[in-house]
Amino acid sequence: MTNHLTSAGSVRARVDSISTSSGIVAEIKSKLPVADVVGETVALKRAGTVHKGLCPFHAEKTPSFIVTPDRETWHCFGCGEHGDIFTFVMRRDGLDFREALSRLAEKAGVELSEHSAREDRHRRRLREALEAAIAWYREVLLQAQQAERARTYLAERELTEATLEQFGIGYAPNTWEALTKRLRGKGFTDAELIGAGLASPSTRGGVYDRFRGRIIIPIRDASGRAIGLGGRILPDAEGPKYLNSPATPLFDKSRTLYGIDLAKGAIRREKLAVIVEGYTDVMAAHQAGFTNVVASLGTALTQGQVELANRYADAVALAYDVDLAGETATQRGLLEELGPVVSKVRVIRIPAGKDPDEFIRTDPDGWRRAVADAAELLPYFLQRAAAEVDMRQAQGRSGYTRRMLDLLRRLPDRVEQDSYVPQLAQLAGIDERVLRDELARGERPVPIRPVVEAAGDDGEEPRITPLERQALTLLLLNPALAGDLDPTERLPFRDEAAQALGEAWRSAVTTGPRPDLEQFVAGLDAATADLARSMLASARARGARPDTASDREELRVCLVRLRVQRAEEQLDDLQALIRAASDDGASDDMRQLEQRFQQLTREREQLVRTINRPAELAGERRT
Ligand code: UTP
Ligand code: MN
Repeated sequence: MTNHLTSAGSVRARVDSISTSSGIVAEIKSKLPVADVVGETVALKRAGTVHKGLCPFHAEKTPSFIVTPDRETWHCFGCGEHGDIFTFVMRRDGLDFREALSRLAEKAGVELSEHSAREDRHRRRLREALEAAIAWYREVLLQAQQAERARTYLAERELTEATLEQFGIGYAPNTWEALTKRLRGKGFTDAELIGAGLASPSTRGGVYDRFRGRIIIPIRDASGRAIGLGGRILPDAEGPKYLNSPATPLFDKSRTLYGIDLAKGAIRREKLAVIVEGYTDVMAAHQAGFTNVVASLGTALTQGQVELANRYADAVALAYDVDLAGETATQRGLLEELGPVVSKVRVIRIPAGKDPDEFIRTDPDGWRRAVADAAELLPYFLQRAAAEVDMRQAQGRSGYTRRMLDLLRRLPDRVEQDSYVPQLAQLAGIDERVLRDELARGERPVPIRPVVEAAGDDGEEPRITPLERQALTLLLLNPALAGDLDPTERLPFRDEAAQALGEAWRSAVTTGPRPDLEQFVAGLDAATADLARSMLASARARGARPDTASDREELRVCLVRLRVQRAEEQLDDLQALIRAASDDGASDDMRQLEQRFQQLTREREQLVRTINRPAELAGERRT
């Protein structure tokens, strides 16, 4: 979270703000040719398309150290060291990536913090605009003649003055420009108003107020900073019941829980976060003293929301007024969305036809009991679905079993899948062994997504190849996979920032408790953080979801392919050296180089063979 910013204080804290950086590392590399940086300490000699020299990292008399300007890399065929300018300076001067980055940035005249500082300023402005709007809307609700009906309505809903004050509830008058004029007067630009989600661009140029004639509900992050607004229509007016802020650099619904700023203390104390759907449910709950309640903003619960709640407590209980057990499709959707966090979610049963707001107001003790009796999500699904089927009929039994096995297969963890087998066996009256066989038989094939993506879909980080991006994204989405990496083995990335990101994530996963992605990114150096953000942003844009079992295989394939690429690059380099040696008539060198070439060719072939093989047979090849 943002209040835990480490030394990278100037780095934007939230990962959801899509990076607009063209890549700090790419910029530095473009200004500092690898031959120049290496050439500072190594006497290089041109050999065709490459340069060669004596390796500075091991003692040698004939040069096996080679610099490839086309790829901005270097490699030593004697000791195996390789990398880019960052790696070189790290090795040569004993620096870590962050230090190498700041040294080379300075040398290249690239201002590291400028980009992040500019982003920070922009976000601060948006936040200030939002806060100014919230304060004004509140004033309008409390004082304006036009807000009379809003005040009456809120009173009818039995929300007290204290509650309205605590939640900062306001009213947007039913006019087109009241807020816009007001905030312009305070020095905000139209672009800032649009950026904050407060105004919309009009077709005639200019802007108009987004929220008109609505009760305003400020939405805040866990630290209490405004990130968006909900706007409820008054009962007899036209339009959608709620109008919310659009996605902005501050507001990402899928990672927000309404009321988290007010609820986090109670969630921690009670070791449980109760998640309802609506704003008014949260207000009613807090008013009645149930302060561990937050809302998912009407979206289907997302993994990001569960993760946010899990910062304060391990358990989450859903109190939705729609019956979650109703449809298999909904269940499937929920299980798929929740992925690995599914086991942390419980279900609170509320009386049919009531929403939590009403339930809490009319029967607080019933609510208390319902929360205490919350059932685990999956057993609840199994049970509810069983109740709707006639188990005495073979057809009903097998249909039910098939649907439930399909649900279980969506669980990311095999052990977890298996733990539900006894319950299912009992409910369906089917032998556990039969179910286990079925579960294994219907296993989804491992989906290997195409490794070549649409090129340049976000135009960022051109130095990161699609394969590298894919591997890093898989790692970031699946901490468990990062934890399984062999710490002694260098990741097969060409780029040192990619390498640094992979390494940092691996060590965060293996050293700390459950790492928080935002916190992790906030603690990174500017370049690595940039890369991480761009990766997460595009993962999110594509709706990528972690699925540990298939992601593991996908990652394995990615890493093998990357190793193959590294081997092929080395083969290219060797060829360049061989050509140069042949031009010089250096036959001893040539023989040695050719031997290496053959050996490397064999290694490459072995790697290629493991691509389509299951993990157990792949062996631990290194390039
Ligand atoms: P509800 O329709 O249950 O609304 O939607 P509510 O919060 O209980 O409001 P009242 O009690 O009718 O006043 C639940 C949540 O879904 C989102 C809002 O976050 C709402 O609180 N929602 C609903 C929208 O975003 N847009 C809509 O049009 C409707
Ligand atoms: Mn309601």
